[in-house]
Amino acid sequence: MSFLTLSNLQKSFGPVTVVHGFNMAIHKGEFISFLGPSGCGKTTVLRMIAGFETPTGGTISIDGKDQTSLKPNQRNIGMVFQAYALFPNMDVFGNVAFGLKVAGMPKADIEQRVMEMLRLIKLDHLKDRYPYQMSGGQQQRVALARALAPKPQVLLLDEPLSALDAKIRVSLREEIRQIQQQLGITTVFVTHDQEEALSISDRVVVMNAGRADQIGNPFEIYNKPATRFVASFVGTLNVIESTVIDPTTGTIKVGDDTVTLKKPLQQPAGSPVQLAMRPEAGSLSGRTNGDTTLHGTVISSHFLGSVIRTRVNVAGNPLSFDMFNDPGTKPPAVGEAVAVKINADDLLVLQD
Ligand SMILES: Nc1ncnc2c1ncn2[C@@H]1O[C@H](COP(=O)(O)OP(=O)(O)OP(=O)(O)O)[C@@H](O)[C@H]1O
Ligand SMILES: [Mg+2]
Repeated sequence: MSFLTLSNLQKSFGPVTVVHGFNMAIHKGEFISFLGPSGCGKTTVLRMIAGFETPTGGTISIDGKDQTSLKPNQRNIGMVFQAYALFPNMDVFGNVAFGLKVAGMPKADIEQRVMEMLRLIKLDHLKDRYPYQMSGGQQQRVALARALAPKPQVLLLDEPLSALDAKIRVSLREEIRQIQQQLGITTVFVTHDQEEALSISDRVVVMNAGRADQIGNPFEIYNKPATRFVASFVGTLNVIESTVIDPTTGTIKVGDDTVTLKKPLQQPAGSPVQLAMRPEAGSLSGRTNGDTTLHGTVISSHFLGSVIRTRVNVAGNPLSFDMFNDPGTKPPAVGEAVAVKINADDLLVLQD
């Protein structure tokens, strides 16, 4: 059953509509990411859930109770922002205790709850520090503890990691996920980083210009993108221009190579069709068998450590292919003619 329900949520600023008919049923304890480019409306949806923005249309309910006209302080929601929004004049203890004091919790209970939260984020030894005496990652953990202290029904995180450096981002996102699972708190996490969204979410909402293009688990979003936008925004995508030979069997031509998709195409024979393929779907090493071979010439080869990314010109299409590093195999040389093994099943027909 849905715990946090967004029904036909809309938001306009003056004449401009930035969120269009947004529907979502989020289950209790679920970790949902809103993933999308800058300006697509992620923060606006989050601010409507928190009550900082009034929807132009639609409703928000939590645990069956309509929240749409409630003020932020009447909702039981915790929020963490991108910028470190700790109170600079309060120490860590004071920051985490803030919401509990406002709620009128007895002093002894506050003490116990704050220390419980600080142990959860493993910063109980820093309870007397002030924000300026801590790293960005530590400050964001305190912000998380502050948001969680009043036991909110829903936790909202708006790009909480974007100001941190790469290593801390990865460790903190895993810590956030672990704490979320430990508490079983329903969470909406906003990011424009696809790896972040895929790695820690139960489900991902890919947003495009104020709409949810696709809602699905990370595996579905990556492997079965519903729209061209999702396919190109999530992960690296190769686009291959081809020509339909026989639409009933799904036979197409890519340069001199023939590919049988084994599924009918809507386009008639002779018409162009665009296909998409992930870089890991092609094998250059000859060690993997595929049912189809594409021929091309190496444009460039980049050694990235564990992975080698090679760009190959296949009938005028510059395609990237990834293979794992193997100390016994030399990366392909620029100008080398290569045969790329693929499985026709891994080709996605792009519909406009
Ligand atoms: N108060 C406002 N008045 C007018 N327009 C606004 C207001 N707040 C947001 N917008 C517009 O609404 C759109 C969505 O903004 P929003 O902040 O939700 O995007 P976002 O997806 O969070 O982007 P980012 O990744 O950059 O944070 C943008 O075009 C923005 O300019
Ligand atoms: Mg935003």
